[in-house]
Amino acid sequence: MLTCAAMDPGHDWDSLAQAARAARDLAYAPYSHFAVGAAFRMDDGSIVGGCNVENATSGLTLCAERVALSSAVASGRRRPVALAVSSPASPPSAPCGLCLQTLAEFADDLPILLLNDGGERRQVSLRQLLPQPFRLPGGFGRATR
Ligand code: THU
Repeated sequence: MLTCAAMDPGHDWDSLAQAARAARDLAYAPYSHFAVGAAFRMDDGSIVGGCNVENATSGLTLCAERVALSSAVASGRRRPVALAVSSPASPPSAPCGLCLQTLAEFADDLPILLLNDGGERRQVSLRQLLPQPFRLPGGFGRATR
């Protein structure tokens, strides 16, 4: 198994966790009342956050992880090296299937910290949560630059 550089205990998980928690305060979740915040550290060291954005037509709801990742890509940063997700759930919730496949477009593997306000933290990885992402023949389905 590939180990991600960010699994290094020296990685600054606390600042990433704080950014995810802060992003959660911006959630637009009037239907579920389940606010989620996500924060990516990118390969240039920067942090990009996002929150869930719900919609009256529930199918249009955007998860915090996809909002944050889209924001990173739209600002020219395509290489995430770590992700923190803050939710009110106990145990802290993991990214949904749509988000995992979206993550797989931009990372082969990624260390993910799941946290909640009760102090629970769980370290997982993208590979663990989605061992076999969909890829198109020819290697498509994975951003190369
Ligand atoms: N949600 C996320 O933001 N991320 C996930 O990975 C799973 C679910 C949001 C979507 C919706 O606004 C709320 O949580 C309840 O499903």
